[in-house]
Amino acid sequence: MKLATSVISLLFLAPASAKMDLRLLDKYEGATCLDGTAGAYYIEYAKTSTKKYQLFFEGGGWCYNDKDCANRATGDLGSSKNYPSQIDMAGGVASANCNINPAFCDFNKVYMKYCDGNSFSGALDSTVHIEETDQDLHFRGHYILEAVLTDLIANEGMDQVTELSLTGCSAGGLSTFLHSDYVHDFVSSKVSQDFKYGATPISGFFLMDRQNVHDEFVMSAQMKTIFELSNATIGVHQGCIENTDSENHYKCNTAPEALKYIEQPIFVLDSSMDSWQSGCIMTNKAIDYDNTATRDMPNGLCSAAEGFEDCGGNVENCDDEQIYSVVEYQGSFVRLLTNTAGYKKENSGAFIYPCFTHCAGQDDNSFAGFTVDGVTMSAAVNNWWQGNGIDGAVTKSYLSQIYNLDSSNPNPTC
Ligand SMILES: *[C@@H]1O[C@H](CO)[C@@H](O)[C@H](O)[C@H]1NC(C)=O
Repeated sequence: MKLATSVISLLFLAPASAKMDLRLLDKYEGATCLDGTAGAYYIEYAKTSTKKYQLFFEGGGWCYNDKDCANRATGDLGSSKNYPSQIDMAGGVASANCNINPAFCDFNKVYMKYCDGNSFSGALDSTVHIEETDQDLHFRGHYILEAVLTDLIANEGMDQVTELSLTGCSAGGLSTFLHSDYVHDFVSSKVSQDFKYGATPISGFFLMDRQNVHDEFVMSAQMKTIFELSNATIGVHQGCIENTDSENHYKCNTAPEALKYIEQPIFVLDSSMDSWQSGCIMTNKAIDYDNTATRDMPNGLCSAAEGFEDCGGNVENCDDEQIYSVVEYQGSFVRLLTNTAGYKKENSGAFIYPCFTHCAGQDDNSFAGFTVDGVTMSAAVNNWWQGNGIDGAVTKSYLSQIYNLDSSNPNPTC
């Protein structure tokens, strides 16, 4: 009896977890999900009135060709028809708890739903008809993003913005790279005041143009296909497009290429051995999309290159030879990131840990727990954000050791 009473009182005393409210973009013609339904976002205002906003890109991978996208159009990653009126907020960098997330806890939070198949980049004017299933696919991610920003400025007080944080994880982390300058420039062109701005892409620095362990360019071929199918030329970083031959424009759909041209402050949160990249880039095997029913995913995420079924799914299972691929991948990751112009510029940096995880930056425990050089990810983000915009402020980067050749993880906070 006593126990039951205390459980009940606990239920009542626990603060109601903040809920975000749905906004359908049904007044914006052409801001449509893959299936033609309206794009959408969720919003939760901070408890105390503020003009600070954080925009979060939802993740969820990509679809890689017409059949794959037709399949995706039937679920939440391709259609808004089943979106609930409220959802819970993400954690970590999006948390409203100031102990977890001192930099952004008191911001108004916006969660941009991902339903376009290609990281808010597609800009196809026509539709793609799928005979077998009689579907018409819409590739309109660029216009969804434009509608979100327009709506926030017109109807949700963002015309008064003083601080603007852009973030998102996985495919949403890639979106954060691709659109960081676009979002800044769009908002800047619509409001009269200056505002503080910066992007924290989480687990979005995918080495998409790198070969797998069998020297096959599986991921780059997949991204080339969706880039072309979704007509994403105007939806990716325009500085990249202008400086790239047209046959390589698809590379502007990847973070390492986009980062070369990003001008706004950026603080990259990522694992040098991301668990999604391990299975879906490093050990990825091409999928037969005509026969997706038999799509086998032995590593748990993607089709695995022969011999790497266990290693791709968990690097702790790699044998003595395979671990060289892991260490080499991590080396490429760190070199590629730290040698890129956009990373080395003023007010920009990174927090890179070797933990075999994905999206740790949106998880409270990892965000407040993973530590590099004695500093947690949460504190590193806060240090960056507080210094960001101050003339002469030096952003410190945090780069942890990579895996050892005996496949032991060098970072005890993982
Ligand atoms: C593709 O995008 C370009 C802009 O990059 C636009 O001019 C063209 O009309 C679009 N094509 C289609 C078929 O939507």
